[in-house]
Amino acid sequence: MKKVVLRSAVVACVTVAAVTGCYSDKGAGAKMSNGCEPSVVVKPFGKTKDGQLVQQYTLTGAGGVVMDVIDYGGKVVRLYTPDRTGAKTDITLGFNSVSGYETQDPYFGSLIGRYGNRIANGKFMLDGKTYTLPTNNSPGDLPCSLHGGNKGFDAYVWHSEPLSEGKSVGIKFTMTSPDGDQGYPGKLDVTVCYWLSPANVWRIEYEAVTDKATPVNLTQHLYFNFKGEAEGTILDHELTLFADQMTPVTKGLIPTGKIVPVKGTPFDFTTPWQIGARINADNEQLRFGGGYDHNWVLNNRSGKLAPAAALYEKTTGRYMEVWTTEPAIQFYCGNFLTDKVPSKKPGRNLCHRGGLALETQHSPDSPNQPDFPSTILRPGAVYKTVTEYRFGAK
Ligand code: GAL
Repeated sequence: MKKVVLRSAVVACVTVAAVTGCYSDKGAGAKMSNGCEPSVVVKPFGKTKDGQLVQQYTLTGAGGVVMDVIDYGGKVVRLYTPDRTGAKTDITLGFNSVSGYETQDPYFGSLIGRYGNRIANGKFMLDGKTYTLPTNNSPGDLPCSLHGGNKGFDAYVWHSEPLSEGKSVGIKFTMTSPDGDQGYPGKLDVTVCYWLSPANVWRIEYEAVTDKATPVNLTQHLYFNFKGEAEGTILDHELTLFADQMTPVTKGLIPTGKIVPVKGTPFDFTTPWQIGARINADNEQLRFGGGYDHNWVLNNRSGKLAPAAALYEKTTGRYMEVWTTEPAIQFYCGNFLTDKVPSKKPGRNLCHRGGLALETQHSPDSPNQPDFPSTILRPGAVYKTVTEYRFGAK
């Protein structure tokens, strides 16, 4: 295990074992104390099938949250947060090996780009020219391009370096997506920083610049289960979405272009609702999604950081707020997950709806939807968004 020299003198270079008892990888229920010494520790995670070395960073936050992140797709492999008694559990879905991600990955914990979510038929028109993308997904037998195509940003090994500032620690990821990558125009230079603060906030800062106009819609696809990875479904989690409207979809999970109020429907999460409470309602949208797999238009569309969602699980007390500068959020409740997907826990598998994702972004298919906020980045402009996942327990 390599010790990482951080730029700030405030953050000690320590190995995981030396972190004052904050972190011990004993699995669910291990105790986590507050007031940890923040650190970043790097060690090899494995190799891609084409032989690239994949590094794992362990970020230990001063508030006690610990995350293991790999430079392959910027994936969060493990995320330990305290419950209301201070016991920590890994609350995210992932795999213990690179090959797990390469063979059967539902985008667990990944950075998603160049375009998070779907583009209808893998086609869009920009400045009079039609572009064709790989159609790597076809819900309802209607092909679309999903999460950047056949090789999205989740499948790149990113350049990475540790960060520190005050008592926060982090990782800076950079990569260049070449002109024509997956059919998209322009060379796109992308920087994503993950920060873990003493207040147990995981802050993600996205930046990109291009040399030709191109759609950009970056997001993070972490799956949460506050009871712990492979500990049943998320149907009992209580969700709040700060969104009075959503974008209904076709059976291909492509927005129809309408933006409709959620009031009086199973999509109204403006007050906390158990995810399972209305999921089987007689509702065409729920049938198309196989449950919740939709995009909500956030009430805050100012571009300033504001609450988008809150999630609570009452047996553990785990609570999280999602804040973002983005105008929309995809809530996906793991409808495509099955018990064929292995867990990180030996001998165990996941289950249908064993995790949920809250993906901050612009709405799906925006390049083909004139009434949605634009996702087109032009040369000279800088794409900049911020999302925070704020962890706690009550
Ligand atoms: C989500 C999407 C789902 C599914 C999932 C990956 O972002 O909304 O429909 O494709 O990614 O399995």
